[in-house]
Amino acid sequence: MWSEYFSGKTVIVGGGSTGIGAAAVAGFAHAGANVVVADVADEIGAALAQSLNDEGHHVTYRHCDVSREEDVDGVFSWVEGTFGALDVVYANAGIEWTKDVRHTSLQEWRHVLDVNLTGTFLITRAAMITMCDRKAGSIVVTSSPHALATVPDAGAYAASKGGVHALVRSLSLEGAPYGVRVNGIVPGTIDTPMVRREAQAAADPERQLELMAATHPLNRLGKPSEVANLALFLASPLADFMTGSLVSVDGGLMAGLPSGPPLSYNN
Ligand SMILES: NC(=O)c1ccc[n+]([C@@H]2O[C@H](COP(=O)([O-])OP(=O)(O)OC[C@H]3O[C@@H](n4cnc5c(N)ncnc54)[C@H](O)[C@@H]3O)[C@@H](O)[C@H]2O)c1
Repeated sequence: MWSEYFSGKTVIVGGGSTGIGAAAVAGFAHAGANVVVADVADEIGAALAQSLNDEGHHVTYRHCDVSREEDVDGVFSWVEGTFGALDVVYANAGIEWTKDVRHTSLQEWRHVLDVNLTGTFLITRAAMITMCDRKAGSIVVTSSPHALATVPDAGAYAASKGGVHALVRSLSLEGAPYGVRVNGIVPGTIDTPMVRREAQAAADPERQLELMAATHPLNRLGKPSEVANLALFLASPLADFMTGSLVSVDGGLMAGLPSGPPLSYNN
């Protein structure tokens, strides 16, 4: 189904080596796109590209630290020189942070903001420059529920994703006159290496994963492919009237409030 929209198109996935990004790389590649994985996990990203190419798809791995301007601009110039037009950019790279603000050094704070927010700025800026010039293109960004409501010990992460939410809205207004759409994805807890690392910090990691799953009304973790499906949809012409949207794929996580004792209106 997706090949109707992405066959022969050029797609960059920032943070495409593992987890949600890797599922999106596979999704765009299976749809016939030329996919460029821009990541710092070189071995894993190159192996992902190789395995998809062995199946006959078109995937290239490029080393790119999204927090470094020269890396990001280098990937975009390479893509322009190699493929010409750029159709889709999925800015998905991110790192977790689980420490309270009192124990977060300025250097640590800057690192989280550099990757999650400045990295999103650099990659979406490069995308906007080329797409607004061509008057076509679609940008998708991975944000987080932490942009809206958070937990203790996630200050730097929550602040970075709050910035990502705001940036998506702003970019959508800047892109609209050029026909460039910008949308964000708000995943619930997805079973990726990031979440597995977080669970490892608990005394009983398997139990921790069950507890994480139980915070979602659908009572399970999401799959990376379930987020990738939304990324493909938002990037495709099926979403042509969507821009500036921040769309949840979260098993109902953000629909509820913590519930107290049952109310008995019916008695
Ligand atoms: N997994 C979840 O539950 C969840 C929920 C909400 C939001 N998110 C967001 O989804 C995105 C993907 O996370 P994931 O869960 O798949 O985690 P992940 O750790 O599996 O994937 C993150 C990817 O980003 C790459 N990356 C990290 N720093 C980078 C840098 N400086 N430059 C380029 N690439 C870099 C990693 O190498 C990795 O390939 C992140 O932005 C994360 O904040 C994840």
